[in-house]
Amino acid sequence: MTARPFLQACRGELPDRLPVWLMRQAGRYLPEYRAVREKVSFEELCRNPELACEVTMQPIRRYDFDAAIIFSDILVVSDALGCPVRFPTGGPVVDNPIRSRAAIDALLEPEVEEALGFVLEAHKLVRAALPARTALIGFAGGPVTVASYMTEGGASKSFGKLKNLILGSPDDGAELLRRIARLTARYLRAQVAAGADAVQVFDTWASVFSREDYARAIAPCLRELFAELADLGVPRIYFTQGGSHLLPEIASLGADVIGVDWRIPIDQARSIIGRPDHPVQGNLDPALLLCDEATLRRRVRSTVDAVSEPRGYIFNLGHGVIKDTSPDNVAALVEELRTPRGAR
Ligand code: CP3
Repeated sequence: MTARPFLQACRGELPDRLPVWLMRQAGRYLPEYRAVREKVSFEELCRNPELACEVTMQPIRRYDFDAAIIFSDILVVSDALGCPVRFPTGGPVVDNPIRSRAAIDALLEPEVEEALGFVLEAHKLVRAALPARTALIGFAGGPVTVASYMTEGGASKSFGKLKNLILGSPDDGAELLRRIARLTARYLRAQVAAGADAVQVFDTWASVFSREDYARAIAPCLRELFAELADLGVPRIYFTQGGSHLLPEIASLGADVIGVDWRIPIDQARSIIGRPDHPVQGNLDPALLLCDEATLRRRVRSTVDAVSEPRGYIFNLGHGVIKDTSPDNVAALVEELRTPRGAR
């Protein structure tokens, strides 16, 4: 089988080229994505495997990234649990957020194939369309990040309702996280069976908790989730945004690869994790893609140069591509990474 540089780095090896992919690499900064979205809503796009495959492939064709990430959203799991989500302009909306124990107990436990079969179908199409050297990443949201939308009803700044549940009614909070995690484990297993070579847990908002609260209320459920995926033998990636204070806990979750954002250097993150060669992914500030090309290239180079152990390193952003990003700047980023030093 053709070696996949992304998977080699996930295993802590040194591939013959530095693997790169970008969170939210498919999306509105690409004119070809916007062309698809002119014809269908975001929900229709997610539920149509052919179209989801097409937009997953768009950034691969343009930039030859080392990994494709299946086009979907973390909130399809909320839908599948019986808590519907809409995506009007301006972010996701849950019209009937979870506000009681009764609402938690009433959540569904669907079969993945029935409730989320469209995502599995998209995996099969993408795997067949990808070049052999390109890995396919499946994903789901971290339980507390999915719970944040299910309780807040949408995006939030203070996360008052989520924290009220998780910290104020810990038994109910733990039950909601367990319900989400149970479906998530089966969902990620099914994604691997459908062709995913690795899975990423996007726990964007876990970082709004203190280290102590994260350790007590959130980490146990993540540990169980990663343990349930261990026998699959595929890399398990954990990402949270702004979570440097959580790294000592994150190190013990059982994830094979840890996402690092731009607020902390990769070397320092690895030193907190306690292993100088722990597989990591990151950590360019996505806002640098909005700067002029020379600044961007300089910062891409310095990000790579700051990583003293190249084994187990995957280049990525510290968070998703911002929608005003110029596609040309993404091309410059990839070219900067792939141009041998001597040739510059
Ligand atoms: O290319 C990829 O990375 C794969 C696709 C992907 C999407 N959402 C598509 C999307 C992934 C991995 C996600 C994950 C996701 N979704 C997260 C975790 C990662 C992160 O960015 O923090 C979160 C918190 C969500 C919830 C969500 N979905 C939000 C907050 C929004 C609105 C924000 C925005 O950018 O508009 C969405 C909608 C969404 N998900 C879009 C896309 C491309 C925009 C939809 C559109 O086309 O209008």
